[in-house]
Amino acid sequence: MSELSAASGSVRKLWPTETIKFRDHMLRLDKVSRRMRFAHSVSDDFICDYAERMNELGGVVYAYIEDDDVRAVAELRKLGDVWGQEAEAAFSVEPTHQDMGIGSALMGRIIRAARNRGVKRLFMSCLPENNRMQSIACKYEAELTFEPGEVMGEIVPQDPNYFSVIAEALEDRVGYILAVLDLPERISRAA
Ligand SMILES: CC(C)(COP(=O)(O)OP(=O)(O)OC[C@H]1O[C@@H](n2cnc3c(N)ncnc32)[C@H](O)[C@@H]1OP(=O)(O)O)[C@@H](O)C(=O)NCCC(=O)NCCS
Repeated sequence: MSELSAASGSVRKLWPTETIKFRDHMLRLDKVSRRMRFAHSVSDDFICDYAERMNELGGVVYAYIEDDDVRAVAELRKLGDVWGQEAEAAFSVEPTHQDMGIGSALMGRIIRAARNRGVKRLFMSCLPENNRMQSIACKYEAELTFEPGEVMGEIVPQDPNYFSVIAEALEDRVGYILAVLDLPERISRAA
């Protein structure tokens, strides 16, 4: 992916069978990143439970994958049982992979996914000291609201069009083939 100049992996959707990769990524988040992600300290048990519910929670999960390991995820969650006008997003990038443009690349995918599902207001919440998250939100023209203990970002995605839908579908097709054939792993084993 051209926007990931400092990173050698790729971005694709995570499929419902990949909850273990999702869990292992979350477990690798250090104390600071866990607090930034969930707005409070969380235990390994909490993370395992959260990861088990990855599919139950519904929505779309994009991952940055390197050598078959998920190193970052972005979650687009519905606020009800079906896609409505509002949705929320959350991000986690492992400490070893932060500041490489991965969070920004994932934000682009999440906004497009929200757009293609007819979402009109996309929310993300972070702690006031989370400068990285706020920097990414501003890059995508989010409106930030500062409250005690929380910063809320709101993005208004454009309406979907032929190109946004096709771009997501084409990427999904490639991502699916990579996931099913486990191609990155085979290529690295063959090298
Ligand atoms: C927040 C997070 C998702 C950002 O992802 P990332 O891959 O590290 O971010 P990127 O590299 O794409 O971009 C980070 C931006 O923050 C900027 N930045 C880094 N440190 C900063 C600081 N102290 N002050 C202001 N901006 C800062 C970088 O310069 C970069 O902006 P640029 O692309 O314009 O140069 C990631 O750090 C993370 O997962 N943190 C832990 C969990 C979390 O905070 N989740 C968000 C709440 S749901």
